[in-house]
Amino acid sequence: MASVPSPARLRPVDSQSGEIVDLYEYQARDLFEKHGVPVLRGIVAETPEQASEAAAKLGTPVVAVKAQVKVGGRGKAGGVKIAKSPQEAAEHAKAILGMDIKGHTVHKVMIAEGADIAEEYYFSILLDRGERRYLAMCSREGGMDIETLAKERPEALAKVAVDPIDGIDDAKAREILTQAGFPAGEQDAIVPVVIKLWETYRDEDATLVEVNPMVKTGDGRILAIDGKMTVDNNAAFRQPDHAALVDRATTDPLELRAGELGLNYVKLDGSVGVIGNGAGLVMSTLDCVAYAGEEFPGSPAPANFLDIGGGASAEIMANGLDLIMSDEQVRSVFVNVFGGITACDQVALGIKGALEKLGDKASKPLVVRLDGNAVAEGRKILEEFNHPLVTMVPTMDEAASKAAELASKEA
Ligand SMILES: Nc1ncnc2c1ncn2[C@@H]1O[C@H](COP(=O)(O)OP(=O)(O)OP(=O)(O)O)[C@@H](O)[C@H]1O
Ligand SMILES: [Mg+2]
Repeated sequence: MASVPSPARLRPVDSQSGEIVDLYEYQARDLFEKHGVPVLRGIVAETPEQASEAAAKLGTPVVAVKAQVKVGGRGKAGGVKIAKSPQEAAEHAKAILGMDIKGHTVHKVMIAEGADIAEEYYFSILLDRGERRYLAMCSREGGMDIETLAKERPEALAKVAVDPIDGIDDAKAREILTQAGFPAGEQDAIVPVVIKLWETYRDEDATLVEVNPMVKTGDGRILAIDGKMTVDNNAAFRQPDHAALVDRATTDPLELRAGELGLNYVKLDGSVGVIGNGAGLVMSTLDCVAYAGEEFPGSPAPANFLDIGGGASAEIMANGLDLIMSDEQVRSVFVNVFGGITACDQVALGIKGALEKLGDKASKPLVVRLDGNAVAEGRKILEEFNHPLVTMVPTMDEAASKAAELASKEA
């Protein structure tokens, strides 16, 4: 291949879907509280009236009105405001609700108790895939601009490797805090909070826990004022509570349906539907389609990732096709199967079954490339079926090109 398609063309439409789930601040706050991390009370509001009621209910002289969006830099964008009365909370909520912060519309605010902040620190734990361990980061200079700090004065940001088996105990917490420049006397109050944050990270199967700021109050308490968390969807089987954290309103409906069908599906923003067996084959199919698409008007790109797995039955193929056909952006579908555990005849029966089941609903041309185990039988089934929408193409590159061409024509 002469060129590689730009990664931007293969970006999932919604970053919270698939392998990881980013949480809202209020959800992270709830999980922190569950694991004993000291937090302030917070109430979610979707209207100015609810914001005023929430402020009255909290009853503190000061509350913070905070935009709930899954993107950083809310404060700088005007999405975090202090209110001194329920009425002021309502006014701030009115201004913040509906605001656009870096492309994210604010649908909810959290009304949080006001904190008497003496100092702001930074603390995070994240997954370091390259090193196969975790990384804890900490600074005495927390607050809104940690990215700038990391760039301009990296020495002010401690980075300490955390062994996944050992985790963060008292000694590890002190090592992190010492490296961040906290004198021993100040560490005692922070150590238990750091350990509780580690327990949150571990027990929730998180890939990120970030607290910015972690604050010291005027009376010397340590509090997590702002929390960001990402949880690993691969752990969904042992984290039944996490299903409730997925924001159904902003998750792609096709991805929700794929999840219910148990399909390994990620929505992308192109027009060529892709189904294959095996994640590696599907990944390279996406590349082939993106590359082939550049030859045609409108440069059609992949519409999705869908791996039906090595041992997929005819029924799974039918579910997958059904799902992809219902994607309005899809103009053509590329079924790329290398028969292994699942022989090509099974796949062919799946395609046939799906098209029969879909009937008139199947309105998109299908390019099928079958190879491997029982390829002759598979091709024979589809030849005899002789469906007007199905084109069989022998090689992957030719099939990718055909699918892209069809998507370009149908557009
Ligand atoms: N409950 C609170 N009481 C008093 N001050 C607060 C409270 N919550 C936030 N603040 C102040 O507002 C600042 C910004 O708040 P926060 O960290 O929640 O938003 P942010 O950092 O702008 O958002 P993001 O982390 O998404 O970039 C904090 O550093 C803190 O000084
Ligand atoms: Mg913050």
